[in-house]
Amino acid sequence: MKVEIYHASKYGNGEKVVAYLQGLLVVKGHEANHRHIRDARPKDLPSADLYVFCAPTRIGKPIGKMRRFLKKARLPEGVKYALIATHGEPVPDKKTGNMPSAEEIEKFQQNLPAMEAILKDKGAVKVADVKVYVRGDTMKGPLADGWERTVEEFAAKLL
Ligand SMILES: Cc1cc2nc3c(=O)[nH]c(=O)nc-3n(C[C@H](O)[C@H](O)[C@H](O)COP(=O)(O)O)c2cc1C
Repeated sequence: MKVEIYHASKYGNGEKVVAYLQGLLVVKGHEANHRHIRDARPKDLPSADLYVFCAPTRIGKPIGKMRRFLKKARLPEGVKYALIATHGEPVPDKKTGNMPSAEEIEKFQQNLPAMEAILKDKGAVKVADVKVYVRGDTMKGPLADGWERTVEEFAAKLL
C-alpha cells in the first residue's frame, strides 16, 4: 500500500505523530511519505492508496491552513483517507479547579468532524480517525503520555 500523509503541525507534536506513523507503516512493508502541507500542492497530490491528514486544533476546529488545504484537495474517486486531530488535553479550570463538562470538551474538539465535513463531497472514503493529546497545561506539548500506543492502534486500523 502507498500512503501519503499530510500534516499542519505548528509546534511539532503532529509532526512527531506522523513520523511515528510513517515508521510503523514502513516496517510493515508499506510505502509511506509524510510532509507538511506548506510543501504540498493540494490540487496535484501524488497518487496513493490512502491519504492521511493530521491537523492541530484551534478553537475547536482544524487550523485554518488545513481547512483551506482540504477544500482545495483533489482526491481520486473512491480513495481511502484517514484523519488525525491533535488536541490539548482537557485540564481543570485554573480558578475553580473544576474539569470542563463533557459538553464543553466536545465543543472544543470538533476538529475531526470538521475535516470530515470538508471532505464529504469529494468521493473519498474514511477508514479511521483518531484524537491524539498534547499536555493541556501548555497547549503546545509535549505529547501526553501513552500517545505512541494511540498511534499504534490507529496504524493497525489502516492496514
Ligand atoms: C490559539 C490556540 C487555540 C487552541 N484551541 C484548542 C481547542 O479549541 N481545542 C483543543 O483541543 N486544542 C486547542 N489548542 C491546542 C492545540 O490543539 C495544540 O497546540 C496542537 O494540537 C499542537 O499540535 P502541533 O504541535 O502539531 O502544532 C489550541 C492551541 C492554540 C495555540
